[in-house]
Amino acid sequence: MKIKISPSMLASDFANLEAELNKCKNAGAELIHLDVMDGHFVPNITIGAPVIKALKSVCDVPFDVHLMISEPLKYIEDFVDAGADIISFHIESESNPEETIDKIISCGCKAAIAVKPGTSIDTVYPFMDKLSMVLVMTVEPGFGGQSFMADMMPKIEKLRNRYPDVDIQVDGGINAETIKVCAKAGANVFVAGSAVFKSENPAETISLLKRNARGI
Ligand code: DX5
Ligand code: ZN
Repeated sequence: MKIKISPSMLASDFANLEAELNKCKNAGAELIHLDVMDGHFVPNITIGAPVIKALKSVCDVPFDVHLMISEPLKYIEDFVDAGADIISFHIESESNPEETIDKIISCGCKAAIAVKPGTSIDTVYPFMDKLSMVLVMTVEPGFGGQSFMADMMPKIEKLRNRYPDVDIQVDGGINAETIKVCAKAGANVFVAGSAVFKSENPAETISLLKRNARGI
C-alpha cells in the first residue's frame, strides 16, 4: 500500500496559512488534512468551506477534508465546490450514510467514513464497495494534540485483513513512534498535526514519519 502523510492544518499557524501549505508541499506531503468542526458534533468550531476554497486557490496538493459535523449531507456540495478531493464524514453523524456517500461520489469526489474510538469497525462494512478510504480515529475527535489510543489497533487489523486494498487512515496523536504501531496494524494514510507543525524541521519530520511507516 502506498504510504501517504496528511498534515493536519489544525496545528498550523492560522496567520500564515499559505506559507504553511507550501511547507507541507515542499516537504512531500501527499495530502492536506482539513478538520471541519461545527461545535455540535464535537465541542470545538474550526473552519468551513469558504476558508478551504481560499486555501485551494494557492495549493495543488489534494485536500482531504474531515467533516466532524452533525449533518454532513447538507454541506457536501459546498465542500466539493470548495475543492475537496476526498471527504470523510462520521458514521455517528445524523446523515444517512448511503445517501451521503452517493452525494459525495456524484459530485465527483472520493468518499470516506470516519469512526470514533467507541464505534465498532463493523459499522463501515455495508458501505465498503463505494468507499475509497476508512478513517479510524485514534483520539476522540474535537481537538489536536491529544494522546494516541493504541487500543484502536485491533480495528485496523480487522479492517486490513478483510479489505487488503482500501486506504486506511489514522488520525490523532500520530508521531514518529506511534506511526510504526499503526503501520504494523495495516494503516497506510497518516494524519499528523502537532508532529509536523510543532516540529523545528517539518520536512525532516515528514520523511522520518514515512521511513518509520515503511519500517526502514
Ligand atoms: C482531531 C482532528 C485531528 C487533529 C490531529 O479531532 O481530527 O485531525 O488535528 O492532531 P494531532 O496530530 O496533533 O493529534
Ligand atoms: Zn482530522
